[in-house]
Amino acid sequence: MYGLVVGVASLSALTDIYGHGTPCNKDLFYSTLSGTHFNLADCVDRAEHARKRKVLSTAYALKNLESWEHKITDKVAMMIKQFDRRCTNPLKPGERPCPADLTVDYRAWTNFFTMDAIADIGLSEHLGFIVAGSDDIVGEKLNGDTYTTSYRECLHATLDAQSHLIWAYDWYKPLSKLSAMLSSQYSRWFKLAGNWDGVVYHRATKRLVRYQKGEKLDDFFQALMEDKNGKPNNLPWGEIVAEMSVMLNAGSASTAIAINNTMYLLLKHPSALATLRAELSTVLTDHDEVVAYDQVKHLPYLRACLDESMRILPPTTFGLPRRTPAEGHSINGDYIAGDTSVSISAYVAHRDEAVFIDPECFIPERWLGEQGKELQQYFIAFSAGSRGCIGRNISYLEQVILLATMLHRYEFALPHPEWVPELREHFNLVPGPLPVKVWRRENYDA
Ligand code: HEM
Repeated sequence: MYGLVVGVASLSALTDIYGHGTPCNKDLFYSTLSGTHFNLADCVDRAEHARKRKVLSTAYALKNLESWEHKITDKVAMMIKQFDRRCTNPLKPGERPCPADLTVDYRAWTNFFTMDAIADIGLSEHLGFIVAGSDDIVGEKLNGDTYTTSYRECLHATLDAQSHLIWAYDWYKPLSKLSAMLSSQYSRWFKLAGNWDGVVYHRATKRLVRYQKGEKLDDFFQALMEDKNGKPNNLPWGEIVAEMSVMLNAGSASTAIAINNTMYLLLKHPSALATLRAELSTVLTDHDEVVAYDQVKHLPYLRACLDESMRILPPTTFGLPRRTPAEGHSINGDYIAGDTSVSISAYVAHRDEAVFIDPECFIPERWLGEQGKELQQYFIAFSAGSRGCIGRNISYLEQVILLATMLHRYEFALPHPEWVPELREHFNLVPGPLPVKVWRRENYDA
């Protein structure tokens, strides 16, 4: 048997497939897509994964959040500078923004923000996307030649090509070659995928030079090179580059999607937005510009809005494939044969009516109080168990600071109340542009 997709949020199915102690492993999907070296996300072997996770958990640990907050807040300050320049006159009640006033594509800026943030957290590099308002970046070929490409374009092209071709694992490599020869679309995607590799390689080699010159920087790269006592980890260079690749990919794309979607959903639901602003006003003053994490990290409605947004539109929507052990495995009480690919999509599980009442409705309140805590076990936007997202805390840090700052300082309006975004799915559910009108809030004198 080959391929079982479970379409419910049953707790036992989630635990049987993804929970700590599951005998299911990451599926062949991951090893088929991996490069010369496994990274934390595509590594299948359990012992190897545990070794990697141990090295990286120091870097991703909660206690590091505080020391990295400045790497986020300085990006938020840059966002403010850019948005201030794009501010328009206040919208009169009942009016629609005129097209010329839609000065911000919020989607693009969320990308610039998360890409700048992860490059700083991971490599102490200042990409400068927010300042430039562009994601043009230099990549490097193995022969040392450099080129300029678009970070988003090459990242998404890689995911587009892979998500179309991966599903017959044995055929993936020949299909990739064939499609690149026969189709200009695939040929372009694979060329851009090569550009992505060169973007990562260039970042890693530049950072290595700084390391070799003796600079001790507080970032993931340093944590990969040495343990916290300064003892070298002696990891192969290919493994370091592979970790940089997954960090620059997973660390930017999904958080940008989440930040974008939360803004969109709040603009669509003015009463939820008003409740959130009321909560923010209990801790922020008119003089606060970039919000500090400490000021807002415990606000329950703010967190509820983020979780409700990631419930309704989980950034990663595809069913993350796991493989049953050779002897088979019981899932939700049913015996599933060995070597079967099994998965649950967060998009589907988060719509299980038995767990989430009115699943299509944006109701942040469902995450509040004891009942909200109870629901958390069904929330799988970051997956679960030992292969759950290691960057979750960093992502919340970015989301909380940016959203609170933006909503405290600005008003936003969609093109019109019925406006909906384009959505495109590869492994992530990728929203298209989010054009908004932006203006400073009244009585706000920061
Ligand atoms: C809203 C933001 C995010 C979402 C929705 C998200 C979602 C996920 C999911 C669903 C997985 C499991 C993937 C799988 O099983 O194939 C995962 C794993 C992972 N994520 Fe995230 N992620 C987010 C942010 C981040 C950030 C900011 C980073 C890095 C700074 C990151 C790094 C990783 C890594 C390295 C793994 C692999 C973990 C392992 O297998 O041990 N993610 N993420």
